[in-house]
Amino acid sequence: MVARERLRLGVLISGSGTNLQAIIDASADGSLEADVAVVVSNVADAFGLERARRAGIPAVFLDRDAFGTGAEYSGEIVRVLREHGVGLVVMAGYMRLLGSVVLDAFPGAVLNIHPALLPSFPGAHGIADAFAYGVKVAGVTVHFASAVFDEGPILAQGCVEVAEDDTLETLEAKLHAVEHKLYPLAIQAIASGSARVDGRKVHIVPEV
Ligand code: GRF
Repeated sequence: MVARERLRLGVLISGSGTNLQAIIDASADGSLEADVAVVVSNVADAFGLERARRAGIPAVFLDRDAFGTGAEYSGEIVRVLREHGVGLVVMAGYMRLLGSVVLDAFPGAVLNIHPALLPSFPGAHGIADAFAYGVKVAGVTVHFASAVFDEGPILAQGCVEVAEDDTLETLEAKLHAVEHKLYPLAIQAIASGSARVDGRKVHIVPEV
């Protein structure tokens, strides 16, 4: 097998960063052949920034209010990602819509994770919405990002049964556990070159 250069990830966060941590851990244990090159947050005190620092990864807070237009802000995100040689942008609890400036700078190379089985229950409250709806199966989705929130070709999904005695809290815990396994696996499909996008369909083909 030909040695590949390890994929460099730019992870965008807004919060606690448990998915970021799962990615850092998978990178460290060798199950993910990619490295987190930089973490960018739009929230100054996001705990994910601290997780990055503890792992020796550059952690950058970018204040939306310090930039005039959304395009200027997105341009700064692109500059930071490029400065760190990022090949794949990974949104992990990034709670802003990513502008076309970033999507155009990294065509087909931006991922998002959403804690529901898309296209059901998009938006900021996917788990609560699915639970309130009374679904019997809930899940998470990793997808390529597009200019529309929680849209774009699906790379991977994982699901859990909603048990009779599940509460919103227990369902959240189950889904986050699925996320933490699924996101590194989905990123590895890209790192290994086995993900092929064909329109809306993403085919996972064996490594060559
Ligand atoms: C996750 O549930 C993710 O699916 C959603 O935001 C949450 C982020 O959690 N987009 P964390 O910051 O990774 O802990």
